Amino acid sequence: MQPNSLQPKRILLIVGGGIAAYKVLDLCRLIRRKGLLVRAVMTKAAGEFVTPLSLGSVTGDKVYGELFSLTDEAEMGHIELSRDADLVVVAPATANLLAKMASGLADDLATTLLLATDKKVLAAPAMNLRMWAHPATRRNVAQLTADGVTFIGPTAGSMACGEFGVGRLAEPPAILVAIETLLAGDTAIPLPEGAWADPADSGLRPLSGRHVLVTSGPTHEPIDPVRYIANRSSGKQGHAIAAAAAAAGASVTLVTGPVALADPYGVTAIHVETAREMQDAVARAMPCDIFIGAAAVADWRSGDVAGQKLKKSAGAVSELTLVENPDILAGVAQAKTGRPALVVGFAAETTDVIAHAEAKLARKGCDLIVANDVSTSGESPGGVMGQATNTVHLIDHTGIESWPTMGKEAIAERLVARLAAMLAQ
Ligand code: PMT
Repeated sequence: MQPNSLQPKRILLIVGGGIAAYKVLDLCRLIRRKGLLVRAVMTKAAGEFVTPLSLGSVTGDKVYGELFSLTDEAEMGHIELSRDADLVVVAPATANLLAKMASGLADDLATTLLLATDKKVLAAPAMNLRMWAHPATRRNVAQLTADGVTFIGPTAGSMACGEFGVGRLAEPPAILVAIETLLAGDTAIPLPEGAWADPADSGLRPLSGRHVLVTSGPTHEPIDPVRYIANRSSGKQGHAIAAAAAAAGASVTLVTGPVALADPYGVTAIHVETAREMQDAVARAMPCDIFIGAAAVADWRSGDVAGQKLKKSAGAVSELTLVENPDILAGVAQAKTGRPALVVGFAAETTDVIAHAEAKLARKGCDLIVANDVSTSGESPGGVMGQATNTVHLIDHTGIESWPTMGKEAIAERLVARLAAMLAQ
């Protein structure tokens, strides 16, 4: 059966076996909302992440999976299945699926259809960042690009495995734009905001050749050998910024306090405990083009760190003498020589967020302050520290820009894109 120009266009969606497979349910809804038809084929591994029932309910069509199914063959042969489409979309395109496609393997229905199709193929890869960066995957992507396959993503951010970097499935709306672009006969796919399709392609990366220095996490200020002063920062926001800057092509140094996160892929991480260690590490990592102070540096430390564990004595409560820590951000922003072109601070506030942040912008001398309300009753439910989302207001000398509540990775990508544009001006 040949597609009729009056009929709605049909997408053949090949669903690979990856954790991101759940996102194709949204993709199917978006495709159908555009008046397009979508028919899904699952690999065996995809069945570990989504069910034929859930896919069938969003496609409104039978879901195929078996190469040697008598019933399916009787209804529609696999060659016909691959030809009765206007576009083939592979999402998530796993490293395994890309490898099979690149070498022309056809050992299941999905790969057989990909080999038998005469239609354009759009691949939306998703995999661990090291798998995406592996030379074998790079070779396969290069081969498939040469064979005419179009790629959308992957994007940068945090992975299901806890690492940060390039490897996330492009968001469904961005895949839909790519689908519409290809159906319209165009092949130049617009990149989703903040996404850089190929980490090896420096031409696409706005911070290539730049050094970005990021502080992240809390500091721990010792009281005695077993006790310390700390705060609830998890490092999620700062680490996401470091990962996004690396994905944007920058050489990134991340100075981090004690956190339970893996170092983001592709950044040089320096681990410190105290504010003074953080200040030393920052000084050693200079110069940089952009400094971003996302760390929740303790404002005070104990003025008299005990050499032995303080003992409880009946009825008496020891007094803690606090002394002020150096202000790392102010030191970088007010440096007489070697000041970075852009100095960005964060302001963690629980009241009068904007007013306090404006005062910090002026007092510390930075170019931009990212203000967030860290109270548990603030704009981001449950507080910002330790949570996955944040609600930020960007404040500079020209005004205030408020962003909606977003995942910390999305904020990081958007902030990095903004800083890259500011630097380019
Ligand atoms: O780590 P998460 O759980 O993801 O949470 C993210 C965050 C809330 C920690 C982050 O978004 C944030 O707001 N970081 C800054 C926290 C903070 O210490 O804010 P502040 O208002 O106290 O400090 C203002 C700025 O001065 C910050 O850029 C801070 O890094 C810097 N500072 C503060 C004190 C100091 N001695 N040296 C500094 O450099």
